[in-house]
Amino acid sequence: MSIAGTLLRSRAVALASPHGVDRYLELVNPMWAAHEVRARLVEIHHEVDVPGEPPVATLTFQPTNTWRGHRPGQYVQLSVDLPGARRLTRCFTLSSAGSRPGDRFTVTMRANPDGEVSRFLVEQAAVGQVVHLSQAAGDFVLPEAVPEHIVFITGGSGITPAMAMLRSLLLRTHRGRVTFVHYARSPEHQIFRAELEEISTTGYGVDLHLVYPEQGGRNFSPMELERIVPNFRDVDTWLCGPAGLVEAVRPAYEADGPNDRLRVEYFKPPRASGTAGGRLAFDRSGIEAENSGESILEQAEAAGLKPTFGCRMGICFSCTATKTEGTVRNVLTGETSDRPDEQIRICVSSPEGDCAIDL
Ligand code: FES
Repeated sequence: MSIAGTLLRSRAVALASPHGVDRYLELVNPMWAAHEVRARLVEIHHEVDVPGEPPVATLTFQPTNTWRGHRPGQYVQLSVDLPGARRLTRCFTLSSAGSRPGDRFTVTMRANPDGEVSRFLVEQAAVGQVVHLSQAAGDFVLPEAVPEHIVFITGGSGITPAMAMLRSLLLRTHRGRVTFVHYARSPEHQIFRAELEEISTTGYGVDLHLVYPEQGGRNFSPMELERIVPNFRDVDTWLCGPAGLVEAVRPAYEADGPNDRLRVEYFKPPRASGTAGGRLAFDRSGIEAENSGESILEQAEAAGLKPTFGCRMGICFSCTATKTEGTVRNVLTGETSDRPDEQIRICVSSPEGDCAIDL
């Protein structure tokens, strides 16, 4: 019997709670876990290093065998213990093709100047660093029955989930058509540049369009997409990028009403532009402020509070809090809601007039 197996069967461990078991195992070996998921950093590959700009790196992790695997396009919540014994959790998209239980996977991230976790992982972490993980989650994924023709439209770092799906399709030797349109600032800013160049040279059945609008490439236009993909509104499309790109592409697909062929994930949500005015009250802390129209998370931080958050994009639900009174607007969908005692994601909700939150 292995030492881990012996420990798991020991009387002390058997009496401990699930987390207690993992505390015992972690002390002996950080890569032993009965319930929690942890992973060891085994490789760091710098994708983009433009002087004066935040670098982008792909990190390869070996998870504990408690990792259940992931579907390409999903994300994971990753926690690191930073100097000063602070554990911070943030949400990152997995960039590798799907993984099975215990398989290695990659996460690609930009060292966001305001992001303590991404800066630490890209700029300071060394091979051997152990991180804590959630299981993979998210429904911006390919369906089990892969459509014959797939279109990806991505911008900047929004290429990451699409790249995971593309890699998975190539591994599965997908026989259908893939059209991949990606917008980046320049070839130097292009994440996965070498791999994309290889794909564009060898083909692999992928119709690849790398567009650099700052270098003479044209911004998204429905006419140009129609030229590349005739009747594009009838083709299954995955769109991921900054708000400007999403807001340009979505109306083209929804010209005749909602279109379930288009799946959207914001890489950066639109800046909340709710209606300024009214009072925003944080019940538990007794703080009240003029509603600036920004997201409730930003307004809480501006008021000196430190709410829990992960992705700041509305996908991980870490920031969920109870709205006790008032109306909020979801900045991703534009929908408003005035139900009392409602659970809302404060990173993508902005108040409409007077509002109270249990924070
Ligand atoms: S921080 Fe992830 S949903 Fe708000």
